[in-house]
Amino acid sequence: MRRTLLVLAAALIAACTAEPQPAASDGPRLAPGQALGRIAFASCIDQERPQPIWDRVLDYRPELFVFAGDNVYGDTGGVGPDFLAAAYRKQRGQAGFMAVKNRIPHHAVWDDHDYGKNDGGVEYAHKADAQRQFAEFWNLPADDPRRGREGIYHAAIHGPPGRRVQVVLLDARYFRSALKPTDSRGARGRERYLPDDDPAKTMLGAAQWQWLEAELRKPAELRLIVSGIQVLAEGHGWERWGNLPRERRRLFDLIAATRANGVVFLSGDRHLGALYRETEGVPYPLTEITSSGINRYFPNALEAGPNRLGNVFGQPNFGAIEIDWAAGTVRLSIRDGEGQAQREAVLKLAELAAK
Ligand SMILES: [Fe+2]
Repeated sequence: MRRTLLVLAAALIAACTAEPQPAASDGPRLAPGQALGRIAFASCIDQERPQPIWDRVLDYRPELFVFAGDNVYGDTGGVGPDFLAAAYRKQRGQAGFMAVKNRIPHHAVWDDHDYGKNDGGVEYAHKADAQRQFAEFWNLPADDPRRGREGIYHAAIHGPPGRRVQVVLLDARYFRSALKPTDSRGARGRERYLPDDDPAKTMLGAAQWQWLEAELRKPAELRLIVSGIQVLAEGHGWERWGNLPRERRRLFDLIAATRANGVVFLSGDRHLGALYRETEGVPYPLTEITSSGINRYFPNALEAGPNRLGNVFGQPNFGAIEIDWAAGTVRLSIRDGEGQAQREAVLKLAELAAK
C-alpha cells in the first residue's frame, strides 16, 4: 500500500513538473527550448460580428499564435477609453477568440482600432489608457516592460540554438508622426495618404528604434517582424510603412547593418490577405505575409502591384508559418474559412541572409 502511494506521489510530481514552462510572456506557456514548427496569426477581429474561422485556426493546431492588430474595434461607437473597454468586454464573449487566447501560447501587437483611434498615431490623447487596457486584456505580467514604459513593442526568442524563432512585435502607433493626407481621397493608389519624405517624421520613435537595433543583433535563425500596418506593400495609398519612405529605408538599412538574417514580415490591417517581396535596397530578398481579417474583409479588393506575389485574397483568412528545420524551409500560407491554403510562398532559410 505504502509503495503504491509512493508511486502515485512520484507520478503526481512528474505530472506537475511536466507543466508547460514560461516562454511566450503573455498567455499560455511554451515548453522551454521547444522548437516551433507551426505558427499562425491573424488580424482585424470585429467583436460585434460572428468569427467562425477560429475553429479552423484551432484545427490547424498552431504552437504559437500572433494577434497582429485590430484585435478589437475599439473606435466604432466613438473614440475614448470607454469605447475601447466596451469592445474588449464584448470580445471576451467571443468563444472562438477566447479559445485561441486561452489555449494557445500567443503574442499580441495593436493596430489603430485597438489603439483606439482610426489611423491614430502619436497625437492620440488616450494612448496611455489604451496601453493600460492592452496590458490588462493580454494578461501581461506585473513586471512586463510594457506596463512601465511608453509603447507596446516587445520581442521574444523561442527554441534552442540552431532552431530559434525570434518574434519582434513593433508598435507603429504610439510614436508615429502625422501622415500626409492625400490630395485625391479614394483614388486608386492615393486612397488616404501620400508618401512624406519629411526627415523629422518617425514611425517607431527614438527609443523603439534603439531597442529594435539591440533585438536584431540577437542570434536567431528566423525572425518574424510583426507590424500592424504593412511594411513592404507599395501598391496603395492606405496606411503602410511607405507613407514614411525614410523610415521604411531605415528599417531595411538596420536589417543590413545588424546583419539580421531570417527576416520575414507579418502584417494585418488591410482586410485582405496577400504576399509581397522586396528585392530593391534590401540586404537579401524580404518577404511579407499579410493576413486580414478574421471577419473584416473586402471581397472586391483591388490593389496595384508592384511587389506583390500573386493576387490579393479578399475573404476571411488567417496566416500560417510552417518551419521544416531539417529541410531549412519556411512555408507561408494564407488560409481561408475552410483552413485551406489560398496563397503560398516557400522560403529557404539559407537565402534569408546577406551574401
Ligand atoms: Fe488597422
